[in-house]
Amino acid sequence: MLAVRNLAVRFGGVTALEGVSFDVRPGSITSVIGPNGAGKTTAFNAITGYLRPTGGRVSYDGVTLTGLRPSAIAQRGIVRTFQRTSVFRSLSVENNVMTGLHLRGTAGFLAVLLGRRRLADEERHLASDAAAIIEFVGLAHRRREAASALPYGEQRLVELALALAARPRVLLLDEPGAGMTGAEKTVVSGLIRKVREQNVTILLVEHDMRMVMGISDTVIVLNGGRVIAEGAPAEIQAHPDVIRAYLGASHGSA
Ligand SMILES: Nc1ncnc2c1ncn2[C@@H]1O[C@H](COP(=O)(O)OP(=O)(O)OP(=O)(O)O)[C@@H](O)[C@H]1O
Ligand SMILES: [Mg+2]
Repeated sequence: MLAVRNLAVRFGGVTALEGVSFDVRPGSITSVIGPNGAGKTTAFNAITGYLRPTGGRVSYDGVTLTGLRPSAIAQRGIVRTFQRTSVFRSLSVENNVMTGLHLRGTAGFLAVLLGRRRLADEERHLASDAAAIIEFVGLAHRRREAASALPYGEQRLVELALALAARPRVLLLDEPGAGMTGAEKTVVSGLIRKVREQNVTILLVEHDMRMVMGISDTVIVLNGGRVIAEGAPAEIQAHPDVIRAYLGASHGSA
């Protein structure tokens, strides 16, 4: 289980997070929502090691993650995507995913020891793993195209494929639906469910309330860097503090 305890992040005078605690149940889809600037991305950054929290602790299965580098956290299976797309733009979809697999695989590291024949075996394995992941996200027809040539929604699917290549146990998705059409969001929701079926725990930040309320087991609401509510989608939608936070927000992103 992923446990966040008393997390605090300050940027100079700005308190981005204060006393944030929550658990992410294994196998759940847990969403973090809240108005712009609530601290959602900051929480992801602190959990995944991209940001050193000012206070508090994050642990996974009882092991403290706080203080570890992002790569070390990813190695433990806590893998994230970014709010903006982070694919290798000039590479083909296939090579993007191959690169993701290489990063976790042994090919580069053991190339010298393995010798040429086993290296070729390893490459074949990677290629078939990559094909399976590309098929899974529905981009088989785009396999050989440069990522930059794809429509934005499909670039975000490449990003999801890259994250899956890292073999996550917990997958953190920061606004996977942003910039997508309604139809693409439906596809992404379906994919998130399918990923969860593979025993991957999902932690989701998303502004699209239809998507959040449709797929989440638990919803955590941040406002001004604090948790103001936590519960099942129906409870959250009826929660007076949540309604107030969204009505009071300057951006109508709910
Ligand atoms: N690197 C930084 N330096 C200074 N302040 C920052 C930094 N990153 C975030 N902040 C501030 O921390 C607060 C929380 O920002 P954060 O990006 O976590 O919000 P968010 O909930 O992800 O918002 P959005 O929905 O717009 O993505 C904001 O006030 C933001 O301006
Ligand atoms: Mg954000």
